[in-house]
Parts: sequence; C-alpha cells; structure tokens
Amino acid sequence: MTTNIQLTSLSSKGGCGCKIGPADLENVLRSLPQATPNPNLLVGLDTSDDAGVYKLTDDLALVQTVDFFTPIVNDPYAFGQVAAANAISDVYAMGGTPITALNIVAYPISTLDESILAEILRGAGDKLEEAGVSLVGGHSIDDQEPKFGLAVTGTVNPENVLTNTSAKPGDKLILTKPIGVGIMTSSLKKDMLTDEEIDRVTDLMTTLNKTAAETMKDYRIHASTDVTGFGLLGHASEIAAGSNVEVRIDSESVPVLPRVKELAAAGSVPGGTKNNYDHIRDIVTFPANTDQLDKWILCDAVTSGGLLIAVDSNDADALLAELQQKGTEASIIGSVTDGNNGHITVE
Ligand code: CO
Ligand code: CO
Repeated sequence: MTTNIQLTSLSSKGGCGCKIGPADLENVLRSLPQATPNPNLLVGLDTSDDAGVYKLTDDLALVQTVDFFTPIVNDPYAFGQVAAANAISDVYAMGGTPITALNIVAYPISTLDESILAEILRGAGDKLEEAGVSLVGGHSIDDQEPKFGLAVTGTVNPENVLTNTSAKPGDKLILTKPIGVGIMTSSLKKDMLTDEEIDRVTDLMTTLNKTAAETMKDYRIHASTDVTGFGLLGHASEIAAGSNVEVRIDSESVPVLPRVKELAAAGSVPGGTKNNYDHIRDIVTFPANTDQLDKWILCDAVTSGGLLIAVDSNDADALLAELQQKGTEASIIGSVTDGNNGHITVE
C-alpha cells in the first residue's frame, strides 16, 4: 500500500468492553442515575452484556451496540473492515441479526489525506455488505487523532436473546477464534511482525462472527459473548459472575496465535492486557508456577475476537464439528461447573 495511517505515532486506548467500555471507565459509566424501570428494556446497563436489547413487540426486539477506536493496523482499508467486524460482533453475540449501521468518524482532515479516510470507509462498507447490513448514515468530527467505529442495530426474537447470565453447570465452552491479538497488534506497531503475521492477525480480525452466530442457532446455547477488550478471562468472568457459575478453562486447549509468547517476552504485552489481568486476578486460580506471560496471554485484550459460547454438553461435539466444517477456527476450551461460583479456574 502507498498510504497508511501511521499508527505508530498514535496511542492505543485499549479495546472494547462492549456495552460499557474499558475497565477503568466502566465504574463511572455504570454510576449513571437509575432510570425509571422499563419492562421493554430486556438487557440494559445492569449486566455486562455485549449490547442492549429493547422489546418492540412480543416477537421482535432491537439489539443496539456501538464501538469505535484508534487504528490498530496500518492498512486503512483493513482498519475499516476490522472496525465493522468488531462493531457488528456484539449483535451476533446476543443472538441477533444485524440490519443497519451508522459510521462514527473522527479524522484530522487538515493533516491526513482524505483518501485514507475513503479507504477506511470503503473497508467498513465492504464488511457491512458481507454481513448484509445497510449503512444508514453516520457522523464525523475533525479530530487530531483518527478514530473510527460504528453503531450497529440488529433484531432478535426476545425468546432467543443470548446473554451472559444463563450458562449452566455442565455446559462446554467453545471459542471461535484464537487469542493473542492484542500482543500481535502491539508488536505490529513496533515493527516486530513479518508480512505473513500481519496478514494472519488482520484476517482474523476482519473475519465476521456471522458463520459462528448463524451456526449456533441450531443448538442449545445457554450463554454467549464475544472476546474483545477484556480478554478471554475477562469475558469468561462476565459469564461466571452473570450466570453465578464456576468457569473452568483448559489452558492447553486455548488456541493462541503463533509466536505470541515470544513477542510477549520481548515486551509486547499491551497496558490494557496487564490491566485486564489486574482486574480479574482475585477471581482466577491458575495452576501453581504458571508463567506470568501465560497469565497475560489469557487476559490479552482482543479486537474483533471470536464468540465464547456456553453450549449444552450434549450438543458441544456436534456444534464444534459443524463450526470447524464451515471453516471457523473453533475449539472447546473449558466447561461450566457449580462450585466456586463467580470464579474462574484455569487448569
Ligand atoms: Co463491544
Ligand atoms: Co462484546
């Protein structure tokens, strides 16, 4: 490519904590005055779910979510694709079907060529098209640091909403993309990746969770979320707390992108990943002698990660097989038990 966003000069503010935001802002945003309870608000601010859900009729509800961030890859077209795939994902995680989107643009129009912005928008537009989502508008402001994202609306039958709050003991946990994205993109900013590695992590982030979401609808799913800014253990903790269950993670089964540990050892662990670890360390038990790098990797802040699905154990193998047959990089990475509820045990 001839132009890029020169993200090496930009700071990253950490990833998406879904409906609310990064962990350090979450408390402020959650302390909003309590609005009058509305029976149509099926999923609101009181849970750590991916998107809000508002019932319109007995068989139709809106799913609404928004996400935006600073560039995480150099290629502006790819950045647009990543931003769109990431923003849409929260609708999939709730069991919804995305239908419309609005662009959110902050851009230094006097210092960065407008062709770069056009590429970002083209990338997002192509990803929306792939997802079957109609762009209905957007808003832009002049800003020193480029930021891009989307507000996405979907629909769902209220009976089919998937939240973090109904995982059941005995469920298996399926993850549909490998982790290590935060460490890889941090390494990308430091010029530590090969072209092949850049392509690999970019492809992963631009992959929609559409196939995974559509496939899981045919199985008994009890809970689902997507793995994004809080990392695998952070989002698993939302299921543990929300469903009042213990989550067990088999660390050997968790797929991690190649060379992530080497890059982490070389100093590429993002601050957001370390914050994630600090945020949940009190509710996680690791095997004795677990390397600190491995703890961080399990907490690594992800952009546009996979779905984390709690599926009835009788359906787990069949769902896994269908996901893999359709080309999804899915793995069974753990299970749900009734034990130390609200807690995560890494094995
Ligand atoms: Co989100
Ligand atoms: Co999410």
